[in-house]
Amino acid sequence: MFGDNQIFAAPLAGITDQPFRRVIRQFSPYAPLVTEMISCHSLVGQHKNCVRNFDNYANEGNVGAQIFGADVGLMADAARILQDAGAKWIDINMGCPVPKVATRAGAGAHLMRDHKLAEQIMRAVVCAVQIPVSVKTRLGWDDEHRDWGELIKIAADCGVQFAALHGRTRAQLYLGEAVHPDVRDMPIPIIANGDIKSVSDVEQMEKLGYCGVMIGRGILGRPWLLSELQGGEKPKNVGEIVLQHLDYVVEYYGERAGVPMFRKHAAWYSAGMPNSSDFRIKVNRIDSASLLKVAIREFWGII
Ligand SMILES: Cc1cc2nc3c(=O)[nH]c(=O)nc-3n(C[C@H](O)[C@H](O)[C@H](O)COP(=O)(O)O)c2cc1C
Repeated sequence: MFGDNQIFAAPLAGITDQPFRRVIRQFSPYAPLVTEMISCHSLVGQHKNCVRNFDNYANEGNVGAQIFGADVGLMADAARILQDAGAKWIDINMGCPVPKVATRAGAGAHLMRDHKLAEQIMRAVVCAVQIPVSVKTRLGWDDEHRDWGELIKIAADCGVQFAALHGRTRAQLYLGEAVHPDVRDMPIPIIANGDIKSVSDVEQMEKLGYCGVMIGRGILGRPWLLSELQGGEKPKNVGEIVLQHLDYVVEYYGERAGVPMFRKHAAWYSAGMPNSSDFRIKVNRIDSASLLKVAIREFWGII
C-alpha cells in the first residue's frame, strides 16, 4: 500500500485552490497537493486580478505549484517566485489539452509535440530552483504519437525528479477510459493519473510499477478521498465540512466572488443525496453567504 506521501491530489483549474486544499489538508496532513495551473506570464507580471498569484505556501505543507507556459525564461522566473513563496516542489504542465493553453499559447500538451522546447523548459526550471521539479504529462499527442516514454527519458536527463502520467492522449481530452502502461522500465518514479478512485485501482497501479497515484475528479465533493484510499473513514459530519469550506472560500475570495464560486462545490458535495437537484437549484439563486449557510444547514439537517 502506498504511504501518505504517495497519494497526490491532482491540479484542477478552478477547483484545487487554496480554500479547497485547506479542506483536503484536514484529512490528509502529509499528502502532496498540486495547485491549479499558474500561468508564468500572469505570475511574473504579478497580474492583480489573479489572486492565487499571491498565495503563500509556507504553511500549507507538502504543496507543489504547477506552472504552464512556453517561454523558457518566464517559466524559470515563475519557478523561482513559487519557490520563494514556499512551494515544496515545482510541477511543469505538459498535458493540458485546452486550446487556449495547448494551441494558442503553445504550452501544456503542446510540449509533447515539441520535445526540444520541452527540454529547454525543463532544464531551465531545474536550474532555476533548489526544490524538486516534476512534470505532468499524457500518453502522447494522439494515437499515432504515444511517445510518453521518450519525453520521460528527456525529463530524467534534465534532472526532473518524477512525473505524473495521465493515461490518455491529448486527442482523447477526458473521454474514454484511462489506460495505464507498465512503467517499471522508467528512469524516474512515475505517478499514475486518470480514473483512479478506489483501493483496488491503487493496488493495480502498484503492480504496474507506479510509485504513487494522483486523484483528480474523484476528490470533487470528497476532500477526504485521499485519506479514504489509505483506510481512513468517510466523515459523518459532511454538512459541517461544507460549511467550513464555504467559510474558507469567503475568507479567500470575499463574499461577492466566493459565493458563486462555491455553487459547484455545493453541487458536488450533495451529489447522489435525496433532493440534491432541488438543493442545487436553490443554491444557484443564492448570492449571500449567510443564506447559503441556512440552505446547507437545512439540507444536511444541522440544527
Ligand atoms: C476541471 C479540470 C481542471 C483541470 N485542471 C488541470 C490543471 O490545472 N493542470 C493539470 O495538469 N491538469 C488539470 N486537469 C487534469 C487533471 O489533473 C487530471 O489529469 C485528469 O482529470 C485525470 O485525472 P482524474 O481521472 O483523476 O480526474 C484538470 C481536469 C479537470 C477535469
